[in-house]
Amino acid sequence: MPVSDYQMVKAWDAVLKLSKVERGQKVTILCGPHTHPQTLQTATIAAQAAGAVVTRIDLQPINAEKATSRDLMNYLGETPLTNNPVALAAMKNSDIVLDLMLLLFSPEQMEILESGTKILLAVEPPEVLVRAVPTEADRERVLAASRLLKSAKRMHVTSPAGTDVTFKLGEFPTISEYGFCEEPGRWDHWPSGFLFTFANEGGSDGTIVIDRGDILLPQKNYVSDKITMHLREGFVRSIEGDVDAALLREFMEAYNDPEAYAIAHIGWGMQPRCYWHTLSLVDREATSGQDARAFEGNFLFSLGPNNEAGGPRTTPCHLDIPLRNCTVKLDDVVVVRDGKVIDEAFR
Ligand SMILES: [Fe+2]
Repeated sequence: MPVSDYQMVKAWDAVLKLSKVERGQKVTILCGPHTHPQTLQTATIAAQAAGAVVTRIDLQPINAEKATSRDLMNYLGETPLTNNPVALAAMKNSDIVLDLMLLLFSPEQMEILESGTKILLAVEPPEVLVRAVPTEADRERVLAASRLLKSAKRMHVTSPAGTDVTFKLGEFPTISEYGFCEEPGRWDHWPSGFLFTFANEGGSDGTIVIDRGDILLPQKNYVSDKITMHLREGFVRSIEGDVDAALLREFMEAYNDPEAYAIAHIGWGMQPRCYWHTLSLVDREATSGQDARAFEGNFLFSLGPNNEAGGPRTTPCHLDIPLRNCTVKLDDVVVVRDGKVIDEAFR
C-alpha cells in the first residue's frame, strides 16, 4: 500500500524527536537523483516543523563505470563526497545529516561523525520507513543484547542446513543499530534493529551453508540451491554449489580483490516489524534490503570491509547475507535458537 505524505511527516517527526532534533539546530538533508521524492519532501517539512535550520545538499552519483548494478551498495569506498570540501564542511557544521543518498563506509563519513555530527541513513521506500518507525523499546532491547555480545569471547553458529562456524571475538567493538541517533557523533540506519561485531582478525573458521530461501545482498534474491562456504583463518576459501554458487563466485571475482573474501560483520536481527518475505513483494531496485538485514532471528554475516569498526580493510566488495533457522551461541549462552531470539538470555 502507498503511504500518504501525512503518514511520512508523522514518521519523520517521531524519528527526529527520538534523535533529539530541537528548535534552532542545523539539519542537513543529503540527497541525489535516486532519492525518493516523497521521503525528501516530508523530511524537509518535518525538520522545518521541528524549528530546525534546514539545508539540502544534492550530489551526483559516481562509480558508474565500476558498479555492476544500480544498487547503492554495489561499489563502496569512494562516494560523491570524495574531493568535495564544500559539501563536507557543510555537513561537519550540522547537528544532524539525514542521509537520503547513502554515504556508507567512506572516510568522509568517519570525518563527519568525528566532528560530532549525527548521521541518519534513510534510503528504503516510504512504505518500509512507515512500517518500521523506530521506538525507544527497540533501542533498549538491542542495547541489552549488545551488552552480552560486548563481553563474549566466542560466537558459534549452527543450522540444520549444515552451518557450523566459530568466530573468535574481542578485538572489535559491538555496534547497535536501532534506527535513530540520540547522541552526538552517532550513525544509524532507519529501519534497523540489529547488532553486530567483527570476528578477530584471522579468527573465523568452519562452514557456512546458505540454504535455499536465504537472501544475498546486494543481489537481493533468494537462493534456489545451497551454497557452501568453507572458512579458514578469517577468509572464505571456497564457495561450492550449483548455479547460485557460480553466480556468487563470479560476482566476487569481478572485484579482483582478495580482501573481498574476508569475514566482516557478524550478528543477529531483532526487528519484529521487518520481514524475511518482503523482498519477494517489492521492486528490487527500490530497496537496499534492510528488511532482510533486520528481520527478527536472522544470523547476519557479511564479507568485505571492516573499516566501519576501525579495521584496516576498505574493499569495495561488500555482501550481507542473512541466514534463517540458525542457532547462535555466545560463549555458553544461546541468544538465537532455530531462528528465534531468546530474550531471556540478555534480560
Ligand atoms: Fe553490511
